[in-house]
Amino acid sequence: GKKQDLKGVSILITAGPTRELIDPVRYITNRSSGKMGYAIARVAKERGADVTLISGPTNLPRPEGIKFIQIETALEMFTKVKENFASNNIVIKAAAVADYRPKNIANQKIKKSDGDMHIELERNPDILAFLGEQKGDKILVGFAAETNDLTQNALTKLKKKNLDLIVANDVSQEGAGFNYDTNKVTIFSATKETNKLPLMSKLDVADKIIDEAVTLLKKE
Ligand code: PMT
Repeated sequence: GKKQDLKGVSILITAGPTRELIDPVRYITNRSSGKMGYAIARVAKERGADVTLISGPTNLPRPEGIKFIQIETALEMFTKVKENFASNNIVIKAAAVADYRPKNIANQKIKKSDGDMHIELERNPDILAFLGEQKGDKILVGFAAETNDLTQNALTKLKKKNLDLIVANDVSQEGAGFNYDTNKVTIFSATKETNKLPLMSKLDVADKIIDEAVTLLKKE
């Protein structure tokens, strides 16, 4: 077994994609499988933490011995994150939250016509930015999925969302990001440290992220 170094630490994790409904049979989503967030939940649990996992739709088995909350849309995730935020020491947001949702959800299946159709989208709340505004003494860890200008984009998000750490993955690289069992990330801290990790399993990445978050928590 693993060393039980997280006894008494509560960690809230989000994982997977969100689904933004168009009508009863259609939705907009993204390529997140949930693997990265579930790996963090599993490792945190194995190290003795109290774990809450808020998950979008995935095909993964539920990790055992944790509090598991299933959601579908970004708005549902927002509600559940707000409900569970206060009771946790560390929050890690690995979910790929949709930035936009259809402005209207049709009650019935939308019929096709001969012409084109348009779906109007409105902004979803930025859950992580909301948490950043009321962070208190919590350790807040975000992810950044980027295809270009990784460092610059990640550092901008770190600052804008008032995070302690941001885990940047270059999702254009083979073996990194969506759906792989491996990931290649660089962890940036608000205190200007950079930890560039090689390609490794998502479970090993999870250990590294938790190590850094717990080090920050113990400094407080
Ligand atoms: O699930 P896998 O297949 O294992 O893939 C893992 C992953 C690529 C999804 C994961 O490693 C990852 O990078 N997750 C974040 C993806 C993402 O949405 O990045 P972003 O740059 O759009 O968002 C930045 C951060 O803000 C993220 O922590 C995100 O959870 C959060 N966010 C974004 C939008 C929003 N409306 N609310 C948020 O909280």
